[in-house]
Amino acid sequence: MKISIAKTQNKALKASANIVLLPKSAFSKSAYAKVCKPFGFEGEGRFFIQQTHTLLVCLEAFEVDCIREAGANAIRYFKALPYENVYIHLQGKMDNERVYAFFLGALCGHYEHISYKTKKPSLRLKELILLDSKGELKDGELLLQKAQILSCNINDVRELINTIPQVATPKYLAKYAKQISKDIAHIECKILDEGDLEREKMGAFLAVNAASTNPPRLIHLSYKPKNAKKRIVLVGKGLTYDCGGLSLKPADYMVTMKADKSGGCAVMGIIKAIAQLGANIEVHAIVGAAENMIGGNAYKPDDVLYSREGKTIEVRNTDAEGRLVLADCLSYAQDLNPDILIDFATLTGACVVALGEYTSGIMGHNARLKEQFGKAAEKSGELMAELPFNRHIKKLIESKIADVCNVSTSRYGGAISAGLFLSEFIREEYKQKWLHIDIAGPAYVEKEWDINPSGASGAGVRAGVEFILSQAKA
Ligand code: BES
Ligand code: ZN
Ligand code: ZN
Repeated sequence: MKISIAKTQNKALKASANIVLLPKSAFSKSAYAKVCKPFGFEGEGRFFIQQTHTLLVCLEAFEVDCIREAGANAIRYFKALPYENVYIHLQGKMDNERVYAFFLGALCGHYEHISYKTKKPSLRLKELILLDSKGELKDGELLLQKAQILSCNINDVRELINTIPQVATPKYLAKYAKQISKDIAHIECKILDEGDLEREKMGAFLAVNAASTNPPRLIHLSYKPKNAKKRIVLVGKGLTYDCGGLSLKPADYMVTMKADKSGGCAVMGIIKAIAQLGANIEVHAIVGAAENMIGGNAYKPDDVLYSREGKTIEVRNTDAEGRLVLADCLSYAQDLNPDILIDFATLTGACVVALGEYTSGIMGHNARLKEQFGKAAEKSGELMAELPFNRHIKKLIESKIADVCNVSTSRYGGAISAGLFLSEFIREEYKQKWLHIDIAGPAYVEKEWDINPSGASGAGVRAGVEFILSQAKA
């Protein structure tokens, strides 16, 4: 969809409509009150004025979060209507932040997962034009470009996550990554196959994939601009399916586990967006792509695995597989000597219990880094909250027979014990440089919420991009 900014409304445009965003408090004094009140509309929610083809949206507060969500809702509303162009009127405070929020919401609200429907809805909407009659916006082109880049990448990430596990195998993700490196300047791609993983001594990663007929892949994308200020390495959990392994998931919990690759897909979207924005930061995206299945070759509860870092791991539950894949990927990532190292993973159901479906967990040892990431997330519109490590939970993953155990002895604090497990594989010199983001809640929700459709949301992309951009300035 095209987006643009115009000073005047082109009356010659055919099939044109309007979206008006108004603070609720301004409704009764506005010209719209007279038109809408006879129909019983008092400024709560939205109202479509037929005569002028205008969707009036009254906002509780004229703030970025409300505007972003209103953008998504307005586009959803227009999906069923025959208009081709829509003029946007922001009748409250109008600045770059608010306009960006509206467009991002609209472009993200536009996406639906329909690839497996034989009857596709026909969408006639082609262009959104923001009216800036007073010429209030500076750098409008930049704002439009950022909204397009972000939304395109978010929607691509969503589509990849939504792709069924039969199709989206580790090899498929590797091919997808290769294509990114062909399409985007300054991005390179290296793929490690099962032989390479053996040579790298990634015993934990390999164990998880042992029972799958699909071979595992480690994807390494890199973006190296000239004069980069910092090196940020991202790691993503890319489980193309997680049935739980021999510690099999109950049937109801297995459904949606195609989305266990969300972290891996997100880091590919982040690096692509950063390259397209031309940010001055070297970025690496590492995806541990594997499939956790059952079979005669499956790894077992009672196994002891040899990780790439040299630590041994007692397996007591094969459904705690993400941390095993990540342990070896984090080891590989540290060899790149990052200034900042961040992993994104749908790691624990416990994180969803703790924070709800809409919020990701931020964990790490560096208070300042956690705060910086949290701020960037908030600015981007993603909900995130810190989950604090403590020395008592750390004891719960001690093993009697190996260096560490892959599950906690307690039923409680599962998101934190998983984070602390990962921390066991972070070398002393990188402990302060590392963050772990558990996106298990918001990555995949089977109902529409905020600017997200039912299914994959692309969680982590907005926050990750905003954080990296903030580091480019810092
Ligand atoms: N992929 C799941 C976590 C998950 C759950 C993601 C719900 C998204 C929604 C992960 O591999 C897992 O199964 N974790 C276990 C860990 C447990 C065995 C310690 C869990 O959370 O139950
Ligand atoms: Zn699992
Ligand atoms: Zn998993």
